[in-house]
Amino acid sequence: MPCDRMEERKLIKRINQLKKEKNAVILAHVYQRPEIYEVADFIGDSYGLSKKATETNAGIIVFCGVDFMAESAYILNPEKTVLIPTTQAQCPMAAMVDVDGLRKLKHEYPNAAVVSYVNTTADVKAESDVCCTSANAVKVVNSLEEDTVIFVPDSNLAHYVMKNTDKKVIPWSGWCYVHRKFSPEGLKQAKALHVNAKVLVHPECVPEVVDLATEVFSTTGMINYVKKSPDKTFIIATEVGVVERLKQMFPEKVFFQAPPGGTCLQMKRTTLELVLEALEKEQFKVIIPENIRVRAKKALDRMLNVA
Ligand code: 13P
Ligand code: SF4
Repeated sequence: MPCDRMEERKLIKRINQLKKEKNAVILAHVYQRPEIYEVADFIGDSYGLSKKATETNAGIIVFCGVDFMAESAYILNPEKTVLIPTTQAQCPMAAMVDVDGLRKLKHEYPNAAVVSYVNTTADVKAESDVCCTSANAVKVVNSLEEDTVIFVPDSNLAHYVMKNTDKKVIPWSGWCYVHRKFSPEGLKQAKALHVNAKVLVHPECVPEVVDLATEVFSTTGMINYVKKSPDKTFIIATEVGVVERLKQMFPEKVFFQAPPGGTCLQMKRTTLELVLEALEKEQFKVIIPENIRVRAKKALDRMLNVA
């Protein structure tokens, strides 16, 4: 066995031992490094992960993902210890909307409901009526009584929602640097090269890319679609982790990442070494002030009820 792989096996063994000793679970987003999957108790998209966080009996949740995901796990489970292995795993899109800006927009549209994508900070969630993820954004928006909806922070997901609702959607101007890179020209070329391929696109991509999709899905949505599909070839417009996961799960099928590809650097900051350190030292604890947590939980609970 190569030296690196031996080291990795040792780390995995130690992490698994500590998980048992400390009654901990590891929840991992699909964009994590493949070696993180090996210690994860659950791998999923942001919706699946928030749901799973409400179902576990473990005392400690080690969240391998980015800041807003670990925060959601804490908001839903304040009695548990929620750990994030690195404080550098911060989603840049979640930082694109702030409470002051959102309050100004609420003032401009006093009758609008505020829907915040889970890719937001806890204080923005607290200022919102309901949260959503890419797996349920359309369903959440359509479930509301209000005819106008302020949607933060992702303008591309807002655009996708607009196409699937009769409601008036007021988008914030945020975006994901990973998904924004996929271009319609690149995707058209890939489709010309692989004419029989089904094209699965994440709704954080720009509308011109979404328009070229066979289907639009969250990360787990893509995996479930491939599982059921008789098709053999797929072009995937989302972060490379999903492509790697699909190759691992369905070796008999062929997957191409849409050009020019994309890697979420913040997601890849979590390593096995940091997960081990997190369990050993019980660091870094995610804590949200109670007055914010309680209000943010209402928005998350409402999403979980609708979805
Ligand atoms: P999912 O909701 O598909 O997990 O996406 C989360 C995310 O951050 C995508 O960039
Ligand atoms: Fe944030 Fe984009 Fe990374 Fe998702 S892929 S965590 S939206 S930066």
